[in-house]
Amino acid sequence: MHQQGVTLWFTGLSGAGKTTLCQAVAEVLRSQGYQLEVLDGDTVRQNLCKDLGFSKADRDENIRRIGWLSQLLTRNGTIVLVSAISPYREIRNEVRQSIGQFIEIYVNTPLEVCESRDVKGLYQKARAGILKGFTGIDDPYEPPLNPDVECQTHLESISHCVVKILNKLNDFLPLQSPIPHNARIGN
Ligand code: ADX
Repeated sequence: MHQQGVTLWFTGLSGAGKTTLCQAVAEVLRSQGYQLEVLDGDTVRQNLCKDLGFSKADRDENIRRIGWLSQLLTRNGTIVLVSAISPYREIRNEVRQSIGQFIEIYVNTPLEVCESRDVKGLYQKARAGILKGFTGIDDPYEPPLNPDVECQTHLESISHCVVKILNKLNDFLPLQSPIPHNARIGN
């Protein structure tokens, strides 16, 4: 049976937990034998989007390229997991329209929490004015108005968030073997 494709799109502030959640979902799906691809903002920006910066136009172009690639993969039966800040609502909706099979996951972690984590030390640089146009500090983030799944990583465990995402995925995929909801996940 041919696997049906779908794109899981993780949006949220830097440090919200998008990559962590994305990897955790990918791990469960991989262990179930699903064909998938992970497109992470940081990685894509080192390759496909090397030429792009962080102006609105460049961020929109970044999302458009990731969206286009996701569309191709999705229509060829791959489960695509995208992790990108994708701060602008309009371009997220444009990508959703073009892909069709699309699950928007809002990783809704408050700025204070992301900033206190400051995994890459970028918030500190942004506050110090060394890094300009940083999302959430002096650049906008437009939250989804009607996400398919919302995760609050400061309140919910990773495994709880993963189960919510897999539940939604079950609505989209006619699964050969349903994803077990008691799947063992770290945390
Ligand atoms: S997006 O806005 O175009 O969707 P993307 O997810 O690809 O962003 O890249 C975000 C990553 O780039 C952040 O996790 C961070 O490591 C890095 N980064 C560098 N400069 C900025 C900035 N001005 N705003 C946000 N992230 C930045």
